[in-house]
Amino acid sequence: MLMVCPLLPTISQLCAVAPSPLAPSRGPHTSQLAPAPRGPPGRGSGRAVLEALGSDGVRVTMESALTARDRVGVQDFVLLENFTSEAAFIENLRRRFRENLIYTYIGPVLVSVNPYRDLQIYSRQHMERYRGISFYEVPPHLFAVADTVYRALRTERRDQAVMISGESGAGKTEATKRLLQFYAETCPAPERGGAVRDRLLQSNPVLEAFGNAKTLRNDNSSRFGKYMDVQFDFKGAPVGGHILSYLLEKSRVVHQNHGERNFHIFYQLLEGGEEETLRRLGLERNPQSYLYLVKGQCAKVSSINDKSDWKVVRKALMVIDFTEDEVEDLLSVVASVLHLGNTHFAADEESNAQVTTENQLKYLTRLLGVDGSTLREALTHRKIIAKGEELLSPLNLEQAAYARDALAKAVYSRTFTWLVGKINRSLASKDAESPSWRSTTVLGLLDIYGFEVFQHNSFEQFCINYCNEKLQQLFIELTLKSEQEEYEAEGIAWEPVQYFNNKIICDLVEEKFKGIISILDEECLRPGEATDLTFLEKLEDTVKHHPHFLTHKLADQRTRKSLGRGEFRLLHYAGEVTYSVTGFLDKNNDLLFRNLKETMCSSENPIMNQCFDRGELSDKKRPETVATQFKMSLLQLVEILQSKEPAYIRCIKPNDAKQPGRFDEVLIRHQVKYLGLMENLRVRRAGFAYRRKYEAFLQRYKSLCPDTWPTWAGRPQEGVAVLVRHLGYKPEEYKMGRTKIFIRFPKTLFATEDALEVRRQSLATKIQAAWKGFHWRQKFLRVKRSAICIQSWWRGTLGRRKAAKRKWAAQTIRRLIRGFILRHAPRCPENAFFLDHVRTSFLLNLRRQLPRNVLDTSWPTPPPALREASELLRELCMKNMVWKYCRSISPEWKQQLHQKAVASEIFKGKKDNYPQSVPRLFINTRLGADEISPKVLQVLGTEPIQYAVPVVKYDRKGYKPRSRQLLLTPSAVVIVEDAKIKQRIDYTNLTGISVSSLSDSLFVLHVQREDNKQKGDVVLQSDHVIETLTKTALSADRVNNININQGSITFAGGPGRDGIIDFTPGSELLITKAKNGHLAVVAPRLNSR
Ligand SMILES: Nc1ncnc2c1ncn2[C@@H]1O[C@H](COP(=O)(O)OP(=O)(O)OP(=O)(O)O)[C@@H](O)[C@H]1O
Ligand SMILES: [Mg+2]
Repeated sequence: MLMVCPLLPTISQLCAVAPSPLAPSRGPHTSQLAPAPRGPPGRGSGRAVLEALGSDGVRVTMESALTARDRVGVQDFVLLENFTSEAAFIENLRRRFRENLIYTYIGPVLVSVNPYRDLQIYSRQHMERYRGISFYEVPPHLFAVADTVYRALRTERRDQAVMISGESGAGKTEATKRLLQFYAETCPAPERGGAVRDRLLQSNPVLEAFGNAKTLRNDNSSRFGKYMDVQFDFKGAPVGGHILSYLLEKSRVVHQNHGERNFHIFYQLLEGGEEETLRRLGLERNPQSYLYLVKGQCAKVSSINDKSDWKVVRKALMVIDFTEDEVEDLLSVVASVLHLGNTHFAADEESNAQVTTENQLKYLTRLLGVDGSTLREALTHRKIIAKGEELLSPLNLEQAAYARDALAKAVYSRTFTWLVGKINRSLASKDAESPSWRSTTVLGLLDIYGFEVFQHNSFEQFCINYCNEKLQQLFIELTLKSEQEEYEAEGIAWEPVQYFNNKIICDLVEEKFKGIISILDEECLRPGEATDLTFLEKLEDTVKHHPHFLTHKLADQRTRKSLGRGEFRLLHYAGEVTYSVTGFLDKNNDLLFRNLKETMCSSENPIMNQCFDRGELSDKKRPETVATQFKMSLLQLVEILQSKEPAYIRCIKPNDAKQPGRFDEVLIRHQVKYLGLMENLRVRRAGFAYRRKYEAFLQRYKSLCPDTWPTWAGRPQEGVAVLVRHLGYKPEEYKMGRTKIFIRFPKTLFATEDALEVRRQSLATKIQAAWKGFHWRQKFLRVKRSAICIQSWWRGTLGRRKAAKRKWAAQTIRRLIRGFILRHAPRCPENAFFLDHVRTSFLLNLRRQLPRNVLDTSWPTPPPALREASELLRELCMKNMVWKYCRSISPEWKQQLHQKAVASEIFKGKKDNYPQSVPRLFINTRLGADEISPKVLQVLGTEPIQYAVPVVKYDRKGYKPRSRQLLLTPSAVVIVEDAKIKQRIDYTNLTGISVSSLSDSLFVLHVQREDNKQKGDVVLQSDHVIETLTKTALSADRVNNININQGSITFAGGPGRDGIIDFTPGSELLITKAKNGHLAVVAPRLNSR
């Protein structure tokens, strides 16, 4: 039925947080946004807003944001322009899914698409990222919901409930686990009993082992509904928990469809259990040996590791307070179910069933702690109480198998209930009685089966879908309530919106007397032959006029074809489902024969003992049927949820193949429909797409208007009014409530968002520039301060150094002056410094001014005190130079010097042409051997020629000049004329040598007068007179016998006859025989002497 109802669509949580762009997500998994140019942006006020801002550079930035939105869709469905279009809805989901954005909001409702791959989005960093932020400030995420719920719980101190729904495999249980993990990791630890966090987390693997199984849809499908309360103390620390479980699918214990498995625990025990444990339980490791495990023919599944799961479960059991004994008892029960499955019967002659598997019976007896014969009897007989008498009626084979399976189901399901109870005891806050307990708040997590439509739908689907109807009804009620409340509170006129109220279907199922459950119960309880078909007939009779009910009989011709005779169809809010009535009565009755109950009541296994209560036997009242029990528990659940602030997570499964990246549109469209998401969106979008508190709106967008930027002094509402006027909002685009602004169209908001994006860029640039300026100025000032500090320190240091130097200099000068004044006084403290200084400076100076060579006679003048030392040093220095010089000269040079020294000794200052000879080197000989006649050489024989020089000989009488050679041998001077020795003067006969003091080159060799062989003295002239005479004097050892005469030289011209040579100075050299018979020599005077 469609209803028209005043609908004030709003999102209560949405308003509780600061506003933010509902534009594209820019979360960690959307970082790859690639800007690309696009057409012109929005219309209407959007364009006005943008044009108000637009410069070219700015537009590019803005458009990239728009493109990103196009690519990854909107992060809140309420912002879909075409919100009524399912195709647009699914397209948005697809875009986001393609970008691995699995979460999208519908207001505060989180839609989650199972990615079937680990997206790495649940790390500790992600938790931190979503803590304490505004709901929409960050991309949608489960943790954002978790944090918002937690903060509402803490700040408003209202109990919260997170309802997670979706079809099998959509990710409900994963979401629940992530939420628990978030709370366990981010909430503060309680003061006492910190273990509660571990227990909350560890209750999961245990419950999953016993309550989850592999189905065709999900390898870890929860086969029960779960509602878990987590209690937080006033500091927000988790201090306890409580779990409610709903309708465990116990038929799975005895039967599984092809491709499905029994509950995980059986396989885990067989795979992981220690040898010893298995031996004690009488089990084999091979699951194929157990009939209850082979029905689905897939005991082994690659995606499940039973062995490691077993270890996890064993550990978890310890954490949730199981003792070793309790674990043993629990495993005994699990094993007993397997043994029951392998218990066989054979018919005796009367077709009564007999147990044939004694071994199984033996183990059952032991494991369940019951009497063997009693159990055997209970498995094969039925106890009937007739007229107060107990009668035992034997069972046939079929009945015995039924009884056995019923027992197995009862044992398992009751153990499961016991297990939940046990976990609850472990989770119960230990401080339940303390005052702080009263101040606890509760956060509920509901992980319950979603709407189910199979090919073949039975009693279980009926219950499950009924449950979904109830939750949907609650959802609508709560949403509408909050929407209406908000509109009223804000004083905004509401606009009616159509939505479907499913109360009518809930009533059809649960109404007293007229509801399907009542009719089913009635049929189960009434005496007589009641069957599933009689139930259907009764149903047809009672609710035939109901618009949501249809059977084969009630249907028209066209629809009849799609309905079997044993089926009825309900038109659920989420779609039509056809149920087969087969098994309805049985499943609703859930019969366990009395004697089996009695047997189990006597069990010595403590768990069985608690599960089967004796009071049950004496209770005359029939136990509640399954459907009624379920209905009651649902009503209770609804009550619990109603008392809490709800949050919703709608899980969607993208494909049936459990594959990542596959987006099966048909499947998703189904779920969008079943989950009522379009309905949900329509309700929320009925009036305004967006609303925000004035403060939050102003805070976010104030930069877009010069009047409101940077601060608005007045009331926020007025500020918003100014702002939207400036932005050019048209009256029909928005409404001003009491505390919030309501914006009707997403495009208006988008345009504002885009404008903000643009504005942010320029603001960011400004802020950056200001900050950079400030930053660098600070840095500059720091550097400047430092530089000044260093400079002043350095200047100080320099100044001090300079002052010290000056002081030292002054003192030194003073001492020097004092010393100078007293320099002649004997050494005393006053003059010591001066004297030392003079001394050192003389010595240091001396080092630099030493004579360069032996000829250099310069020497610094020493101070009086150092005169003697100076002289010694001078001598030393000279000796050193001489020594050095001598060491370096060659023998030839030594000889040369020796001859020169002799020449100097003889001629220096005495003969005019001596100075000309000084720079000319003496030569060994002036005549080569070839220039001397061989005959002469022959005559001389072995006597060597030490020196030979051409000379001119003047006759003793006529003074005729004749060319001769003068040879010096070791013993004589030999005068040679061509090939003839003219005269030989032995050195012993050479008495002396005479030369004039003038510049002529004449000389006279004086010989012994007594020597008869000699003709007399020899007058010679040599061009190299100094050299010739020096060598001759040296050879003849007549150095001291050279006479240098002034005026004239007398020589022996022959026996008894003397000749005279007169020397007179003149302008030119002239040698003539004078009239007086003397040899007259005029020689120029040279100035050099
Ligand atoms: N957020 C997620 N990230 C990665 N994988 C996920 C996520 N949610 C679910 N899955 C995968 O999907 C599988 C099924 O999820 P889950 O068991 O939570 O489904 P369910 O809705 O509880 O189904 P059922 O109703 O059968 O219990 C998980 O085992 C996991 O492999
Ligand atoms: Mg699950």
